Amino acid sequence: MINALGQPQSLFLLGGTSDIALAVVDRYVAIGARPLVILAARPGPRREAAAQRVRDAGLEVETVDFDADDVESHPGLIADVAKGRDLDVSVVAFGVLGDEESAWQDHAEAVRHARINYLAPVSVGVLLGEVVRRQGHGAIVALSSVAGERVRRSNFVYGSGKAGMDGFYLGLGEALRDHGGHVAVIRPGFVHTKMTEGRAPAPLSVSPEQVAEAVVEAVADRRELTWVPGAMRIVMSGLRHVPRKVFRRLPV
Ligand SMILES: NC(=O)c1ccc[n+]([C@@H]2O[C@H](COP(=O)([O-])OP(=O)(O)OC[C@H]3O[C@@H](n4cnc5c(N)ncnc54)[C@H](OP(=O)(O)O)[C@@H]3O)[C@@H](O)[C@H]2O)c1
Repeated sequence: MINALGQPQSLFLLGGTSDIALAVVDRYVAIGARPLVILAARPGPRREAAAQRVRDAGLEVETVDFDADDVESHPGLIADVAKGRDLDVSVVAFGVLGDEESAWQDHAEAVRHARINYLAPVSVGVLLGEVVRRQGHGAIVALSSVAGERVRRSNFVYGSGKAGMDGFYLGLGEALRDHGGHVAVIRPGFVHTKMTEGRAPAPLSVSPEQVAEAVVEAVADRRELTWVPGAMRIVMSGLRHVPRKVFRRLPV
């Protein structure tokens, strides 16, 4: 259970090597939480490094093999992880960005993006929803993006996947309200992580630590939708209504 201070006893990270997900671990430690951390990620040096980082923070860690693209494996994996314990906070943190200009012109690449950024979040979302319903409590954090609020020419393969997953998790939150569950949809702007390494930062860019702070607050306060930074809400509510003819000329 998440206690009155917003501290969970278990933290399940799907995309356990994500820089943002690992910053969430650090943030929980900073507020005094000592959850068991379950890292679901593809095996390899990045997962090993992530597990060591969690251990170094003084927490118990478990690793499980997780390939977002292998949706057939998800039911068994999540059933195993949830067996005999409650999942207090689950973070859906996997995603791919890649080269957007090649993605929309490459069938295999566009389909891979759609599978990882939309199909896989739906797959794990349904299964996590089942767990939350059974438990009667639990928070699911979905790392969406401002890119899904108004899909732009410059990254529409990624943005369309995020738009879809964002809508799914907002809906899942509505559905789980009557079952004691909570879904926090987080919409960061540009975050300085390995996903964006080498790219010119967009205005209002943030660190993984800032996103993590927003995640931990959203869970504690049962917020449904969180922009990071908060000013993004204003920017995007304006951009959402800009006519297409003008929007396509903007440097976004
Ligand atoms: N960085 C940003 O500017 C930004 C902005 C808004 C939203 N987001 C979202 O935030 C989330 C976390 O991203 P991040 O910034 O922390 O980037 P990151 O450090 O690159 O994390 C991305 C994660 O996705 C995992 N992943 C990719 N394909 C996978 C697959 N087939 N199976 C399992 N895991 C897979 C990666 O695992 P491996 O280590 O195995 O590759 C990695 O853990 C993503 O959903 C991203 O779209 C990021």
